[in-house]
Amino acid sequence: MFSKWVSIGFLYLLLVLLSFGELCNGGITSNYVRRNDLSADMPLDSDVFRVPPGYNAPQQVHITQGDHEGRGVIISWITPDEPGSNTVVYWAENSTLKNHTDGIVLTYKYFSYTSGFIHHCTIKNLEFDTKYYYEVGIGSSTRQFWFTTPPKVGPDVPYTFGLIGDLGQTFDSNRTVTHYELNPTKGQALLYVGDLSYADAYPFHDNTRWDTWGRFIERNAAYQPWIWTAGNHEIDFVPEIGEPKPFKPYTHRFFVPYRASESTSPLWYSIKRASAYIIVMSSYSAFGKYSPQYKWFTKELPKVNRTETPWLIVLVHAPLYSSYVHHYMEGETMRVMYEPWFVEYKVDVVFAGHVHAYERSERVSNIAYNIVNGLCTPIYDPSAPVYITIGDGGNQEGLVTEMTQPQPRYSAYREASFGHGIFDIMNRTHAYFSWHRNQDGFSVEADNLWLHNRYWKYSKEPSVAALR
Ligand SMILES: *[C@@H]1O[C@H](CO)[C@@H](O)[C@H](O)[C@H]1NC(C)=O
Ligand SMILES: *[C@@H]1O[C@H](CO)[C@@H](O)[C@H](O)[C@H]1NC(C)=O
Ligand SMILES: *[C@@H]1O[C@H](CO)[C@@H](O)[C@H](O)[C@H]1NC(C)=O
Ligand SMILES: *[C@@H]1O[C@H](CO)[C@@H](O)[C@H](O)[C@H]1NC(C)=O
Ligand SMILES: *[C@@H]1O[C@H](CO)[C@@H](O)[C@H](O)[C@H]1NC(C)=O
Ligand SMILES: [Fe+2]
Repeated sequence: MFSKWVSIGFLYLLLVLLSFGELCNGGITSNYVRRNDLSADMPLDSDVFRVPPGYNAPQQVHITQGDHEGRGVIISWITPDEPGSNTVVYWAENSTLKNHTDGIVLTYKYFSYTSGFIHHCTIKNLEFDTKYYYEVGIGSSTRQFWFTTPPKVGPDVPYTFGLIGDLGQTFDSNRTVTHYELNPTKGQALLYVGDLSYADAYPFHDNTRWDTWGRFIERNAAYQPWIWTAGNHEIDFVPEIGEPKPFKPYTHRFFVPYRASESTSPLWYSIKRASAYIIVMSSYSAFGKYSPQYKWFTKELPKVNRTETPWLIVLVHAPLYSSYVHHYMEGETMRVMYEPWFVEYKVDVVFAGHVHAYERSERVSNIAYNIVNGLCTPIYDPSAPVYITIGDGGNQEGLVTEMTQPQPRYSAYREASFGHGIFDIMNRTHAYFSWHRNQDGFSVEADNLWLHNRYWKYSKEPSVAALR
């Protein structure tokens, strides 16, 4: 018995020493000097907030995936004056056969604000990999948009996701969206890691700033699905002014296909898209053991078929690993609860926002600690995901520049600049991640990384040492 423990202890010591060797140098803290301009909200009369012409014209048009495998789309829009039509007319490119589906309309009140008429319409059973046009509105106020459905789910289907978080509606937010649009690597769907409008920064959470945000993002979100994650700025919990229901504006304005993944809440759900399986979690809903989110999540992971969808991606607002001073360790309770699952099920990458900066981790885990063994330092772990914080969309709170020192060994690269990311899946073994800061040209990669799939091990994968 004793010798068994000694040998296990020795093995552990060896592992710890080995991993220490791998991670002995902290990563890169970029010395890039950004312009020190203010992140001021764009004024209400800005071009990006313009109301479309015509009586009761649909505005704030945005789409998201509408089913589990990518043949459905939820189309949402707001009519300001009256309910108008709930119908979406749609047709495949070059097809003369027009189809239509009816959705629902709802309104909500928030303190002294009353929303416009919010429409949500799910269209289903679309063909894969097909461009569709769609129209909303009536008569001369009808507006037309288009989207392209993803290819059929499959292991080697290339697909390009964009990544934006904590966007807000400042001049910097507009630069982030512009850089995403003009990046020569074209994102086909956007993974949004939470904190949308920052309307809650205004007195009484002035919800007209939800409307301006909806109009601002329409130029992209009406044409490609934005996959939503809720952040702390979506909570809008202000019982003092009679608003005790968390996530009220967010859940009325942004529908997601949560029932398709047997979730009981729009705040956590999953979708498959091309070769990726995307799990969205909620940092601000109960996630402890026996909570609805926990029960759902632990049943969800074993369902992921990596032969069908090799890339397993988790989106969550508060990062599990972040070495910035601001929001330090806010994701720690979730890390303690969920990191063992991420490692066991070989999650490829976890994207988070919340911290208004960029950071990329090494493949590390910190799951050996059991309160008494003292093993509480992140170690290199080939089964662990890469953690990427991309909360640098450009909102009015500005960048967080203060970092913990020295840079921890698990942190591979960190820099406080506004920007966006691209996650470009090539096939079942390879994906390429790049981070683009707003001050650079559209094609410049400020940081990048080849990701090798955790399930489909690349035969020529470099040794542990080369991977660091
Ligand atoms: C639709 O028509 C255009 C112009 O004729 C053509 O370039 C395009 O390939 C067609 N698309 C499909 C899906 O048939
Ligand atoms: C119209 O949509 C319905 C419902 O999704 C579908 O069953 C039908 O095949 C579609 N018709 C055409 C012509 O696309
Ligand atoms: C936002 O960006 C777009 C595209 O670059 C530009 O046309 C527009 O004028 C910008 N608006 C503001 C208020 O910065
Ligand atoms: C996983 O997906 C593959 C490819 O679609 C399929 O052949 C296989 O049966 C699936 N496995 C399970 C357990 O469902
Ligand atoms: C997967 O993509 C990578 C990067 O483009 C390439 O080097 C590799 O050969 C591809 N694998 C297969 C099996 O095609
Ligand atoms: Fe946040």
